[in-house]
Amino acid sequence: MSAGGIGNIKHVLVIGSGAMGSQIGMVAALAGYRVSVQDIAEDMLTRAKEQLAGRMQANVAKGKTSAEDAEAALGRLAFTTDLDAAAADADFVIEAATERLDIKQQIFERLGRLAPAHAILTTNSSTLGSSKVAEASGRPEQVCNMHFFNPALVMKCVEVVRHERTSDATVETTLELARRFGKEPVLINREIPGFVANRLMGAIQKEALALHSAGIASLEDIDTTAKTALGHPMGPFELMDMVGLDVIQFIAEATYAETGDDADRPHPAIADLVAQGKLGRKTGQGWYNYEK
Ligand code: 3HC
Repeated sequence: MSAGGIGNIKHVLVIGSGAMGSQIGMVAALAGYRVSVQDIAEDMLTRAKEQLAGRMQANVAKGKTSAEDAEAALGRLAFTTDLDAAAADADFVIEAATERLDIKQQIFERLGRLAPAHAILTTNSSTLGSSKVAEASGRPEQVCNMHFFNPALVMKCVEVVRHERTSDATVETTLELARRFGKEPVLINREIPGFVANRLMGAIQKEALALHSAGIASLEDIDTTAKTALGHPMGPFELMDMVGLDVIQFIAEATYAETGDDADRPHPAIADLVAQGKLGRKTGQGWYNYEK
């Protein structure tokens, strides 16, 4: 088997309709591709559909997109629970399902059987290198990570991470597709926990948590410093609340499981908030309270 080139890509399949999957699907539809967003939960698909329609309406109101273009992009986007049918003519797959290895392996095994031979299979995972799912697909050369950032409609970076057996053709096509999506992809030559972006983010968060726990400065003042001294769009605590403290904890746990380095262990203050159900913006409370 060998990976199809960029010209072969007409139908993009996104697996998972959470915050990441749904926005990645919209990015691909806005770039002119026919897109299927697949999820096992009908209510997740309904919510994704409503949220994306709302985002497109806001873009039209802001004059960012014409009503016709927004409608056409939404028209290219199908929502389905039927993975087998959606995979049967998918040219490029982006898996953004739950961050569980067993689930991802099952998905890649199914994709390997169902998707056309030329289809490239990628995972948006930030914690699982694609080598962990590549063999299950039966076409490891056509597998890599394609890691988007939250909010995927806005953030320009896409990390394309190759594993030992990813072919050059797969890497080139994935980089080019990201460019056609309007992104600025970066290539990561070797799997490493956290890739590049989450390692940088983790380093800043670690220091912010240490400063805060030691009572050196308040949350607000640490966040303000990151914005006004360093030009970051958000402070580290605001960013943790946006990404989700459960996700931050999961990334740390996954990193620690791979490195065994005590410095990578999840911070106890994050574990405390997660235990209290304070997961950030999505639950109305995290480091900050959003319920007011
Ligand atoms: N979904 C889609 N679009 C969104 C959005 C969302 N959740 N939140 C904001 N936007 C859009 C707005 O509509 C606006 O669009 P416009 O320019 O067309 O009007 C644009 O983003 C700017 O939004 P705002 O003016 O409301 O607010 P800001 O200027 O503060 O920008 C932000 C918001 C883009 C989120 C900015 O604060 C930012 O860049 N923050 C840092 C985000 C970041 O670091 N992300 C990476 C997280 S790590 C990750 O995802 C990896 C994973 O593995 C955990």
